[in-house]
Amino acid sequence: MISTMQTVLLCAGSMLSSSLVCPPTAVTLDAVQNAPVPTLIVMPPRPSVNETKLEKVPDAGHPFVPPGLKDQRGPCPALNTLANHGYLPHTGVVHLEQIINATREGFNMDYDLAAFLGSFLMLARGNPEYNLLSIGGEDEQVPSLPVKVDGKCPRGGLAKHGRFEGDVSMTREDAELGDDRNFQDNLYDQFLTFIGKYGDDSKVTGPNSLVNLQVMKHFKYQRFVDEQMRNPKLSFHASRLASSYNEAAFILKFFANGTDETLTVSSLGSIFRNQSFAPNWWRRASPGDLNLIASTASDINPPNTPFFVKPGENKDGKYVEDDMSDYKCDTGYYDFVYHNLPHTYDEISRGSDILGRNVKLLLENIARPFNCGTYKVVPNGPIDPDGKCERSD
Ligand SMILES: *[C@@H]1O[C@H](CO)[C@@H](O)[C@H](O)[C@H]1NC(C)=O
Ligand SMILES: *[C@@H]1O[C@H](CO)[C@@H](O)[C@H](O)[C@H]1NC(C)=O
Ligand SMILES: *[C@@H]1O[C@H](CO)[C@@H](O)[C@H](O)[C@H]1NC(C)=O
Ligand SMILES: *[C@@H]1O[C@H](CO)[C@@H](O)[C@H](O)[C@H]1NC(C)=O
Repeated sequence: MISTMQTVLLCAGSMLSSSLVCPPTAVTLDAVQNAPVPTLIVMPPRPSVNETKLEKVPDAGHPFVPPGLKDQRGPCPALNTLANHGYLPHTGVVHLEQIINATREGFNMDYDLAAFLGSFLMLARGNPEYNLLSIGGEDEQVPSLPVKVDGKCPRGGLAKHGRFEGDVSMTREDAELGDDRNFQDNLYDQFLTFIGKYGDDSKVTGPNSLVNLQVMKHFKYQRFVDEQMRNPKLSFHASRLASSYNEAAFILKFFANGTDETLTVSSLGSIFRNQSFAPNWWRRASPGDLNLIASTASDINPPNTPFFVKPGENKDGKYVEDDMSDYKCDTGYYDFVYHNLPHTYDEISRGSDILGRNVKLLLENIARPFNCGTYKVVPNGPIDPDGKCERSD
């Protein structure tokens, strides 16, 4: 919800650029709370020190409350868990700043990594003019975008296939084959089989009960091989491949118990199945940043081994690898922005209205952790990736 203070700041700032934004007469508190308004995104302060102490999560102020019928939950277990514990709004409709704060409070995610993720999601599947994103499906609290951004395509929410939600995830089906939004028992059972085979032993929880790199390496490879065989439309380009392996790295680095950095089957089940923090769980002591996640992802998808999978897609039943010779700097970053974000953002980001300023800020947040120097990749993707809604440009 947008506070009165934010509205005041927003209106003061917007007098310069647009008189349409602020109603001429005072709005009641009720109207402010019920009707979202275009909102300049203000980044939360960067932490002046990195948190290095262990912290038990959740704290007393964040008990588990199951989602109600209208609350949005989607394909990302970590965000679902944060919403169920009230670190994110329980509705599942969130601002960028809330994602950055909640991922720090719940998982000690590094500021720049969280800003990249939240900003990409906002541009891909949220409404950057209103700074609102549904972590599940389309939601009436998130207004439609101006037609100039995405044509007449509905934005969806995080769960909408394409741009972010994609193939070869661990516990969701490929969109082409089934339910790509909700937890799938049969896939999780496969995951458990791999833990039973490759997991580490624990004195407390027993043999083969800890999730480790070997589990992830074998399970992720099996998931790829399986979808490559079953999904004729498998799409596994550089950004999706990065997200898919980063997800696995997140689990190892963010879901593990901060005390000894081990991840038990029951903690995993708690987050995946119950979308709740495990009892007596501690978040990691040092912030997890993109370098940590990318290097772990590279251990899960290790170059020069039989497990190595390269970006590509299925064409006529065959996996065809992508030619990435003209990708600049980081291939994942390049693909995220150049191929996935709608090309209309390029011009919009040069505007001085609220939407333009927000889009520019979000694009900068995406670039920052990749250290791609001064090179700026411009969005060049389609407004209608599925070709399922009418073009307007
Ligand atoms: C916190 O850690 C990140 C990397 O995780 C680093 O880039 C940043 O400079 C650190 N910030 C402070 C204030 O030490
Ligand atoms: C995010 O956290 C910062 C630092 O604790 C705080 O100042 C800010 O109000 C928080 N913002 C939101 C939207 O919760
Ligand atoms: C999920 O929650 C139920 C009910 O609170 C509990 O009995 C069960 O042990 C939990 N499962 C996991 C894997 O945490
Ligand atoms: C986390 O580690 C502490 C200390 O070893 C232990 O008491 C606690 O049960 C562990 N929690 C989980 C969820 O594994």
